[in-house]
Amino acid sequence: MEGVARRIEELRQQVSYHNYRYYVLDSPEISDSEYDALMQELLRLEAEQPELVTADSPTQRVGAAPVEAFGVVEHREPLLSLANCFSYSDLEAWHKRLLNLLPGQGPGVDFCCELKMDGLAVALTYVDGRLVTGATRGDGYRGEDITQNLRTIKSIPLSVPGDAPRRFEVRGEVFLPRHGFARLNREREEEGLPPFANPRNAAAGSVRQLDPRITARRPLDIYIYALGYADDAGGTIPSTHLETLEYLKSLGFKVSPYNAHVTDIAGIERYYQRWLKEREKLKFEADGIVAKVNSFELQRELGTVGHDPRWAVAYKFPAVQGTTRLLDIGINVGRTGSLNPFAILEPVAVGGVTIRRAALHNEEDIWRKDIRIGDTVVVQRAGEVVPEVVAPVTSVRTGAEKAFVMPSRCPRCGSEVVKPEGEAMTRCINASCPAQLYEHLAHFVARGAMDIDGVGKKLVAALLEQGLVKDVADLYYLTYDQLMGLPRMADKSARNVLAAIDGSKGRPLARVLFAMGIRYVGAETAEVIAAHFESMERLAAASKDELLSVPGVGPRIADSVVAFFAEGRNRRTIERLKEAGVRPGAEAAPQEMPLAGMEFVFTGALSAFTRSEAEARVRGLGGTVGSTVTRKTTYVVVGQDPGAKRERGRELGAQVIDEGEFLRLLGP
Ligand code: IVH
Repeated sequence: MEGVARRIEELRQQVSYHNYRYYVLDSPEISDSEYDALMQELLRLEAEQPELVTADSPTQRVGAAPVEAFGVVEHREPLLSLANCFSYSDLEAWHKRLLNLLPGQGPGVDFCCELKMDGLAVALTYVDGRLVTGATRGDGYRGEDITQNLRTIKSIPLSVPGDAPRRFEVRGEVFLPRHGFARLNREREEEGLPPFANPRNAAAGSVRQLDPRITARRPLDIYIYALGYADDAGGTIPSTHLETLEYLKSLGFKVSPYNAHVTDIAGIERYYQRWLKEREKLKFEADGIVAKVNSFELQRELGTVGHDPRWAVAYKFPAVQGTTRLLDIGINVGRTGSLNPFAILEPVAVGGVTIRRAALHNEEDIWRKDIRIGDTVVVQRAGEVVPEVVAPVTSVRTGAEKAFVMPSRCPRCGSEVVKPEGEAMTRCINASCPAQLYEHLAHFVARGAMDIDGVGKKLVAALLEQGLVKDVADLYYLTYDQLMGLPRMADKSARNVLAAIDGSKGRPLARVLFAMGIRYVGAETAEVIAAHFESMERLAAASKDELLSVPGVGPRIADSVVAFFAEGRNRRTIERLKEAGVRPGAEAAPQEMPLAGMEFVFTGALSAFTRSEAEARVRGLGGTVGSTVTRKTTYVVVGQDPGAKRERGRELGAQVIDEGEFLRLLGP
């Protein structure tokens, strides 16, 4: 029995020490499995001797049952906040006032510079070496008792060495590092919950969980930045802030490694500029720096105004986020026909810029984040990119908010829109939609498509500007006089352009098809389809099933082709092309289809092609490509670092070949 008690004590000390190495110092001495073995042994012995379990045992971080509500903690000394400054001149004003209040000091006041972690402030009270209370800041005077939740944070010591003051309080910032924040939001997404807007909300939400087991699963961390008070310290408490932080470190607390001692205001500014540039590299979010007068004596002399000490200041980085109301959701039509929703916002200043509009990406994103019209939303500016709506603030909903519905018609041209299965984007597939016309025309005239030499992007832009073309067919109705009316158009070039347009009328069907810009119909697919149907009329009348019978055409392509020809405007364009004399014939030489009837599955990386190039080659030669190995699979092509498909291929009797054999199959 005695021996067991001793062993338990020994194990507790070892586990706590290795915890400290890992979570506080970020410098473990033993492997995870060695650590697990110690912890397992401790858990086993404690289970056998439950009367020996104590609250500060490292096994007891997640012991407590859920609570109905948090109790209230009165702070013995109020938790102050910080005055903010936003520019160097603000900082100068703060510094000047401070020196004026300390006449005897001259310019020789030194400071501690710290990062301002974006989390939430907590106060931890230790009595007789043990953590007894952990509380939120609350209003500065009274906070919430979140002891059981804070105990789950492994960088918070549950006990401190025997020579620590008998009763003391430390203060610090609990935060969620970026990787933990990203992981948490991924998990929430999988569970269909709206994401947290930022790590601070996520950290605050995590420590205010009524069930400590939920808090325990969030990878929260803490930096201690102050000693609140200490009783019976017996002269051990230093007289400066920086020495105090060193002292707290020696008691086992996690103190920010980014703190720096500076001797003047220029030093504060250098620290600020450095972290303004490098803050993205931090593993957590910082929203500014904090400068604190180092000497406690001078701190006392300076005192506080309201809630803010005069001896400290938060020098904020330009804000990246703000909160405002989402007035409505508008739709932009992109050059590829995608319908892009965007937020119309009540104007809000974020980092010195007024934001009125912000990106919402796509419909699914809006649903996933549960953003509703009328919501209060968090908006974010990051670098040069367009501001975006990050998340709704669901706690202030009134019930009057409206869910967003994607329009069923294109807001630019009124055509029906489609949303292919498995895709995030809703699209307008009207090839003459003005929003898409420029890209579409540029593609139509390009080499590989109709190859109209002399009609480049500049001319396309000019034609659109003058309203001379509204769809690709209009190109074939252009007159000499119209062209001559364009800025900087000379007689000779006008004639050349007309000749080039005329010369394109005889392009083969495959080229015309490709030029039409039907989604998923690239040059090779166009070849296969043209070879099968031989005329535009027959293709226009084809059913999905008929298209699917063409080697290399899958459901995605078939759907897209059917939808294209179902659109009245596209049919009219084709009709007008025909009337203008565009008469595509079948390709002279029939395509060879040596891979017809064969299904290929790829695994691992190839060296001669990307995966999609390899797939295109197979389809171009009449073969099909599968994503999983089945009994229908003819060949499994094995590249670098193949997966389980190779084995599966062998099991199911497919031919398993390497890249060299694959190249031989493709032929010259
Ligand atoms: S010192 C009187 N140091 O910023 C000093 N605060 O508005 C009060 N914060 O509630 C705090 N990093 O949550 C201090 N290195 C740091 C800090 C920091 C973040 C937070 C803290 C406080 C708020 C002040």
